[in-house]
Amino acid sequence: MSQCTAVILAAGKGTRMKSELPKVMHRMAGQPLIGHVLDKVQKLGIEEVLTIVGHGRELVAEYLAGQSTIIVQEEQLGTGHALMQAVPYLKDESTVLVLSGDQPLLSVETLRLLLDWHRNSGAAATVLSAIMANPFGYGRILKEKDLFKGIIEEKDADPKQKEIKEINTGTYCFQSSVLKAALQKITPQNVQGEYYLTDVFEILLAQGAKIETLCTEDSSEALGINNRVQLAEAEEILYDRIRKHWMMEGVTIVNPSSVFVDAQAVLAKDVILLPFTFIKGKTRIEEGAVIGPGTTIIDSHCGKGCQIENSVVREAIIGERAMVGPFAYLRPGTVLEKGVKIGDFVEIKNSVVGEGSKVPHLSYIGDSRLGKNVNIGAGTITCNYDGQNKYPTIIGDNCFVGSNTNFVAPVKIGAGSVIGAGSTITKDVPPKALAVERSQQKIIENWQKAKDK
Ligand code: UD1
Ligand code: CA
Repeated sequence: MSQCTAVILAAGKGTRMKSELPKVMHRMAGQPLIGHVLDKVQKLGIEEVLTIVGHGRELVAEYLAGQSTIIVQEEQLGTGHALMQAVPYLKDESTVLVLSGDQPLLSVETLRLLLDWHRNSGAAATVLSAIMANPFGYGRILKEKDLFKGIIEEKDADPKQKEIKEINTGTYCFQSSVLKAALQKITPQNVQGEYYLTDVFEILLAQGAKIETLCTEDSSEALGINNRVQLAEAEEILYDRIRKHWMMEGVTIVNPSSVFVDAQAVLAKDVILLPFTFIKGKTRIEEGAVIGPGTTIIDSHCGKGCQIENSVVREAIIGERAMVGPFAYLRPGTVLEKGVKIGDFVEIKNSVVGEGSKVPHLSYIGDSRLGKNVNIGAGTITCNYDGQNKYPTIIGDNCFVGSNTNFVAPVKIGAGSVIGAGSTITKDVPPKALAVERSQQKIIENWQKAKDK
């Protein structure tokens, strides 16, 4: 089988987005549009990927670093002009798969079908088409007696042609040498004054080349993102697909339409997602975990059987069977070991909480290391910041910390120690000690009567 090179067109301004951000860097289900397209290409096993960048090229190139060869289209003179930039990189014998960076919903299966169809038919070019109930804005496929006769852009189409529902998805396969020759011949003679990639077909037809079309069954795959309404529509379709995928893989989702799982998140079987829950970024959730309701997890790892309720978790590692929430906020660098319990109104940042330890209520734990089986009383605060620098608090195994304690960091508490409630601890405490820091309680008997006199 001939080698395949994928070319992703991603240089366009995306004028209709009305944005400073290049169109293909707009996010959908947690990933830039171009990332969705690249993922598909990688899943197809295509080794050589070329991406044409232009508008906002630094951002796009940085995102694609190491994953694609970057080719700059200095001026954006149209899709045909974009593809011309790739010509020096295309080997004569190869198959060229052309994709748009703004078409994130195409499936790997459809692309594989397109490649197979193209190779098996021996066509010079194959166009992926779709039937759209509302084809406005797309190029229309012109046919005579089922034979492909070209593509006409919306802006160049006459009223009769505008009625055609079969549209060009902007995804194609070409024999490399045929494509290269035809690209040399296209001109910008059209309403937009652009080099249309779609004009290649007219040239190929005139040469008597064989051109095939393959129509996708699911027209939503063809959705091109040109504005933010289309972005929102496509994202909704993708979230729906993702939910169905994970449910079929053994995840329970209660009230699915209120649960959002990003494209790069991974869920194990028997995970339960409760309503109003967001699983974002590259989060991974292990077997039997129960997440939600009302929970947001971002770029985190949630261990087997953990439970997280009404909480926000960002860049954290949650151990097996840990219990979190309601109303906890776990910030980057939080590591909860097995069986940890984090309760209501607790914030943790850049801290390790050892196996079986508990921070059940109203605490702030920052830049700390808690050993195993530590109990932190309600209202305990690590004072980690002096206005300039951050300092660590280290608490050994089996410590018991009374309520409303302040640890003024840096400070170290030896294993097995007890801290009296209400203490402000500024000095290290040795193991197995009792540390109390508060003034003695005074009792003044008959205080009320004395006042009344
Ligand atoms: C294009 C097709 C249209 C098809 C539609 C599918 C042409 C002339 N038209 O129209 O038939 O129905 O896609 O979505 O090809 N780009 C560049 N450099 C440029 C111009 C565009 O890299 O100079 C890139 C864009 O970044 C985008 C892709 O090419 O990713 C498509 O460009 P766009 O302007 O969105 O084309 P459409 O008008 O949607
Ligand atoms: Ca488009």
